[in-house]
Amino acid sequence: MVTIRVPEHVPPEMVKDFSLFTSPGMERMPNGDPHAAVACLHNGPRIFYSPCNTRDGRGTWVITRAQDQRELLQDTLTFSSHRSLFASALGENWPLIPLELDPPAHSVFRSLLNPLLSPKRITELEPAVRDRAIALISKISASSTSCDVLTDFAFPFAVSISLRLLGLSDERLDTFVGWGRDLLHGDGIKQTAAARTILAFIDELAAMRRKEPTDDFMTFVVQAKVDGRALRDEEIHGIGVLLFVAGLDTVATAIGFDLAYLARNPKEQELLRSKPDRIVLAAEELLRAYSTVQMIRVATKDINFEGAPIRKGDFVSCATMIANRDPAEFEHPNTIDLAREDNRHTAFAYGPHRCLGSHLARQEIVIALEEWLSRI
Ligand code: HEM
Repeated sequence: MVTIRVPEHVPPEMVKDFSLFTSPGMERMPNGDPHAAVACLHNGPRIFYSPCNTRDGRGTWVITRAQDQRELLQDTLTFSSHRSLFASALGENWPLIPLELDPPAHSVFRSLLNPLLSPKRITELEPAVRDRAIALISKISASSTSCDVLTDFAFPFAVSISLRLLGLSDERLDTFVGWGRDLLHGDGIKQTAAARTILAFIDELAAMRRKEPTDDFMTFVVQAKVDGRALRDEEIHGIGVLLFVAGLDTVATAIGFDLAYLARNPKEQELLRSKPDRIVLAAEELLRAYSTVQMIRVATKDINFEGAPIRKGDFVSCATMIANRDPAEFEHPNTIDLAREDNRHTAFAYGPHRCLGSHLARQEIVIALEEWLSRI
């Protein structure tokens, strides 16, 4: 039995029995459908307190309006990104870079890394991404009449592209898929073991590229300079680990939600199959409607935000799945319109931490849909 504690400074009338996560002691969200559940939040207050709203069971303030989320995400002085999520699993305290850095350090590393995932770089990667999608889909279509889309396609595909980004082949794909799964979905023990293994692998790769430089991401990182100095080991860890894990569950779940939607809507599936040029726009709408990332910030000082007495150290949640169903931003937000124009969703965040990998993510999703629809 887990005791859920609401901090004393939170007024009882601002507490809501709502969680984006399943946790012992908390009720599951309606029908296990997070997107339908969060859509209902727009009938309620702009901000409330959820006593159990992170994977490890911590309480957060929940910002329900897209406009408020944008305001908060811009205010990096009051709402910090520093959490050392990965390192804390190892009892350490270094940031994932640039995700867990605040300005001005954030801007220094962001400028360094931007060119690595620029639209030009991603266009060059296209043939490799397509080859990997085709290889996985062909294996499925050749060997079975049914499959689990996440296990057999979307997750290994995302891992494979992360490896490609790091300059590695698919030779040990199954091993890396196992690490990724343990890290993101394992229990505490598996998670810590996977974190250790991934870190050792990043160290090994960095050492190899120092010895024998080539034209790849890790070579760039070990040769990079910030403020006229080489990167420290912890900085290489923070960058290497983030670039490996950032595109795993995010890309895989996007593909999973998209294919689930199309499986339930055969007419739209047929339309995209016969008019593949509509897939780019459709993928944007599905990113909006089935957003998956919850951004957490930590208050750096006491502040009253829209009537909520937020205290220094409180967690604040800006969930993209909530913002992207906001009726003040989107006409008929709960209707999925695969031809929706001017779709300014925040699936890839907003503000200085806007997703560095969004061009790659979009490319992966669109290629996955194109190849899946033409082959399955
Ligand atoms: C559908 C797929 C993806 C989604 C929905 C997504 C979403 C996001 C979101 C919401 C953030 C901001 C997090 C925060 O501020 O707390 C973010 C940051 C980031 N993402 Fe993605 N992401 C995706 C794929 C990728 C891929 C493929 C990569 C690269 C391999 C990537 C690399 C990053 C990095 C490096 C950051 C940190 C940026 C910064 O702090 O300046 N993402 N992503």
